[in-house]
Amino acid sequence: MTSMHSDRLPGHPHIAYVGDELFVEQTPLSALAQQYGTPLFVYSRASMLAALAAYQQGFAGRQVQICYAMKANSTLAVIQLFARAGCGFDVVSLGEMRRVLAAGGLARRIIFSGVGKTRAEMHAALEAGVGCFNVESEAELEVLNEVALRLGRQAPVSIRVNPNVDPQTHPYISTGLKDNKFGIAHERVVQTYQRAAALPGLRIEGIDCHIGSQITQETPYLDALDRMLDLLEAVERAGVPIHHIDMGGGLGIDYNGETPPQADALWHKLLDKLDARGFGQRALMIEPGRSLVGNAGVCVTEVLYLKPGEQKNFCIVDAAMNDLPRPAMYQAYHQIVPLKPRATAPETWEVVGPICESGDWIGHDRDLSVQQGDRLAVLSAGAYCMSMASNYNTRNRAAEVLVDGAQAHLIRERESYADQMRLEHLIT
Ligand code: LLP
Repeated sequence: MTSMHSDRLPGHPHIAYVGDELFVEQTPLSALAQQYGTPLFVYSRASMLAALAAYQQGFAGRQVQICYAMKANSTLAVIQLFARAGCGFDVVSLGEMRRVLAAGGLARRIIFSGVGKTRAEMHAALEAGVGCFNVESEAELEVLNEVALRLGRQAPVSIRVNPNVDPQTHPYISTGLKDNKFGIAHERVVQTYQRAAALPGLRIEGIDCHIGSQITQETPYLDALDRMLDLLEAVERAGVPIHHIDMGGGLGIDYNGETPPQADALWHKLLDKLDARGFGQRALMIEPGRSLVGNAGVCVTEVLYLKPGEQKNFCIVDAAMNDLPRPAMYQAYHQIVPLKPRATAPETWEVVGPICESGDWIGHDRDLSVQQGDRLAVLSAGAYCMSMASNYNTRNRAAEVLVDGAQAHLIRERESYADQMRLEHLIT
């Protein structure tokens, strides 16, 4: 790179202005937008690997399997990257399992989570040889037992318990509270393990929890670990041994100045607690999603029109809620920055997409100096954007590029209208 001044964006170590241009690693985003069009998702490989390394450092010398929760970003090349780096995967559907296997991930490093696994999914996962099923209800245990016996197998299981701690995050992404649909209430945990131990088609492997997502404090994790260890002790006292502890995912990222704990610092504290309570030798698993990919990605979009108004100024861009569903769904904040900043004074804009709904907004009250045809980057778009993208308004889903230094790999082509209509039939 040139010796030009480089301004890193806080929380986004691999995204920076070099001169007057926004770069991901050593690649200027405007060149990618020119080549592949917009809206375009661009990910930094180094950023994903650095996020993973923070966990790996935190676990140095311990027996831990990191299972990337691929629902955050399930693109094959992203899975491939984590598989090559030694990750296992947390999957919640047969589709996700198929993606892992197609990308070169190992079946035995897959954990299969989710409250509504079908018999067909259980069957396929047992045949593939997944490492563990995270079971979420007593009824599911019975069905899994039946499916396993019919196949002449034993299903490895972990029971997802509900530790009833408040992760202090958005209600739609809190999962460890009593009134959530997830996990088994802690008062039923011992009984459930005893039942599981009596079923010949099951082999008990672990205990797991997942308390929520975009968690920015360490206390919910420390509390959840205490409750998990209380439960583990109670289950083992009742005569059922447990091999591993899975603490789920949930660690938050910096969208707008949040300061979540660093993965290694958080795990330092959790490991201290495990040691203090005599569980230091226990095998561990974790299921991080967002914290591995969220801040590695941006969505590049072009300003189609400026529409100044009496109440609001609208900046209409070519990305929409079908590409970036988080603002509409969770009132989520994503930073929006220009690819090439202008020197003129900023004005305040409602940044919105072209979809025919008022809920199709990307950012409220953003101070930007923009003109028609400018390109903007929506930050923190590596997690839960492309994997939640839809075709609403018959919009083609965006293309995706993975940047590695000065090299860019097209990892998903832009969808075509033919792709969208491929499965449909006119009535004859
Ligand atoms: N494990 C389980 C069982 C989960 O349900 C989830 C996420 C994870 C791990 C990974 O959590 P993470 O580390 O990514 O927080 N669409 C929402 C987030 C939904 C999270 C669902 N479960 C959003 O865009 O904020």
